Amino acid sequence: MNLIDQMDRAVLDAPSFRAAAKLACVILRKELSHYTWAGVYMLYGQELVLEEWDGEHATQHTKIRVGRGLCGLAAVENRAVVVKDVREEPRYVACFQSTRSEIVVPVRNVQGKFIGEIDCDSDEIGAFHATDLAFLEWLADRLSQRWRRELEAFAPAFS
Ligand code: SME
Repeated sequence: MNLIDQMDRAVLDAPSFRAAAKLACVILRKELSHYTWAGVYMLYGQELVLEEWDGEHATQHTKIRVGRGLCGLAAVENRAVVVKDVREEPRYVACFQSTRSEIVVPVRNVQGKFIGEIDCDSDEIGAFHATDLAFLEWLADRLSQRWRRELEAFAPAFS
């Protein structure tokens, strides 16, 4: 199975959004060797909360204020952030000493509003290219669909 099909099936068939996010992170790291760490943050109020991740080490940044670091920048500006060398980016908030480049891609709702993000680190300088951006944008859209499905499943309980 190719990567798109594998990811598609994993995300859409997962029993919950968190399971989908976890699988997405695991597949990214397993299939793409330049992905050292992958995580999915979702926005709760003014805070990004780490839902799931995969990597050798846990990050201490499980909650990030909107506006802080590259993750917070992507949230404020509702745009992807790609940094070739984090040592030259003053807004970068360090998680792992070995990280050299990072990509953050927004997850948006159907209205285009920022609701979360995929955050990936690499130990290589300039690891993330247009193909990574396109693939992660596609994945973000899939995660958004999965998130919506979960909200819709819960909605009757509140009506
Ligand atoms: N480097 C991020 C913080 C999150 S960790 O990479 C997991 C940032 O600058 O926002």
